[in-house]
Amino acid sequence: MRIDIITIFPDMFSAVLDESIVKRGQQKGRVKIFVHDLRRYSLDKHHKVDDRPFGGGSGMLLQAEPIFRAVEAVKKKIKGMARVILLCPQGKSFNQAYAKKLSKCGNLIFICGHYEGVDERVRQYLADEEISIGDYVLTGGELPAMVLVDSIVRLIPGVLGDKNSLNFESFEGNLLEYPQYSRPAKFRKWPVPDVLVSGAHNKISAWRKSEALKRTRQRRPDLLKK
Ligand SMILES: C[S@@+](CC[C@H](N)C(=O)[O-])C[C@H]1O[C@@H](n2cnc3c(N)ncnc32)[C@H](O)[C@@H]1O
Repeated sequence: MRIDIITIFPDMFSAVLDESIVKRGQQKGRVKIFVHDLRRYSLDKHHKVDDRPFGGGSGMLLQAEPIFRAVEAVKKKIKGMARVILLCPQGKSFNQAYAKKLSKCGNLIFICGHYEGVDERVRQYLADEEISIGDYVLTGGELPAMVLVDSIVRLIPGVLGDKNSLNFESFEGNLLEYPQYSRPAKFRKWPVPDVLVSGAHNKISAWRKSEALKRTRQRRPDLLKK
């Protein structure tokens, strides 16, 4: 898989791309990630990429021209089709099922908005879809792009060491994960549930299923309706 990110703050990305699972995914050759500085695609001699909105109003908008030029340049480098995603608080809500769907794509291009957002023509004529990471407004699309990258990359086959860990995670089968404990078996006055130290695998598996159901019913009954 290949992911291209278009942003006016390319330096923000190293914290996520150069650490942990996302780094390992790249080292294993499962994903290639490129971060592009939008200013490089500006036709302005000062590399300006924003301007005031027509009709007035506060703030600045990222202009269509450099964004179109950046996406077109990236598409030329890519073999095959690429899905162009605009990070946007007005987009479709992101979730685990969405991450799974995107993890099966060959090429993704993320456009990070900033300031008051992007010129509407980017949304209308360039983006294939718009994705929101939640009902709140962030300063830019950089953090949302990182959220998408992290959640997608760990789902690419071969990235996680133990692929079984994906089968027993929250949202898999519309359930939240069961409670987990590690050593010591008794911490302060709180012991681990007996069943987990019993060594009886059938009982442990039944306990986990029932705890996952209980937890989902308590915290996210909406998932069970699915
Ligand atoms: C300050 S926001 C612009 C908000 C816009 N004026 C509005 O009211 O819908 C700047 C940029 O941050 C990104 N952004 C902010 N919140 C986001 C969210 N919840 N999900 C995805 N992207 C978001 C988008 O790329 C957006 O263009």
